[in-house]
Amino acid sequence: MTNAVIETILSRSAAKYYDPAATLSDDQIRELVRIGTTAPTSFHLQNWRFIAVRTPEAKARLRPIAWSQPAISEAAVTFIVCGQLADSSVIPERLSPLVEAGIMPAKMVPEWEIPARDLYMHYPQRQRDEAVRSGTFGAAAMIYAARSLGLGSTPMIGFDAEAVAREFGLAEDEVPVMLLSIGAERPGNWQQKPRRPIADVLDLV
Ligand SMILES: Cc1cc2nc3c(=O)[nH]c(=O)nc-3n(C[C@H](O)[C@H](O)[C@H](O)COP(=O)(O)O)c2cc1C
Repeated sequence: MTNAVIETILSRSAAKYYDPAATLSDDQIRELVRIGTTAPTSFHLQNWRFIAVRTPEAKARLRPIAWSQPAISEAAVTFIVCGQLADSSVIPERLSPLVEAGIMPAKMVPEWEIPARDLYMHYPQRQRDEAVRSGTFGAAAMIYAARSLGLGSTPMIGFDAEAVAREFGLAEDEVPVMLLSIGAERPGNWQQKPRRPIADVLDLV
């Protein structure tokens, strides 16, 4: 079982070494985020925001609050992938382009909004879980898109979340889900690591 997409998935690994001279244009960065935002979100909430840290000045602000990880200075861009706490009140606005495009009947909007309200409104943990899920799906799409373009990527949890939120002006409802460096690699990255056996991670029921 293989094809180009599967090859892209199978051949990805987390990059450590980036070519510090290689940049990405703002249009290339926009395109990566556009691809990321085609990922699925619960109730089509699209509860995310991406801060593209790509200038030397911005990288110098981020690196010390991210365990001084060299990828932040060396990769073309490091995204602060933010998930937003799930809030059902945004659903009519998020669904209105679907209604206008004739994809969803207008009367169906409350059929999404009401269960979402019941699911999230009084459950802060669920709101936060959804923020993390959405940010992670978006980041994953960007990781594999980057790989397909011959670019390396590094998801990173090694950062001070409170400091990042303060330094980059995250809103009260925004969770910094992960940092995601993307850029051209330089030689020296590890080959892909072996995985746990499928028998250890799969239950067929
Ligand atoms: C949520 C998450 C957080 C991670 N944080 C870091 C990090 O802060 N720094 C780093 O160098 N690698 C980080 N990694 C990369 C992992 O170490 C790497 O994905 C793992 O060892 C598997 O290797 P592979 O991605 O090359 O297959 C992170 C990966 C994930 C998924």
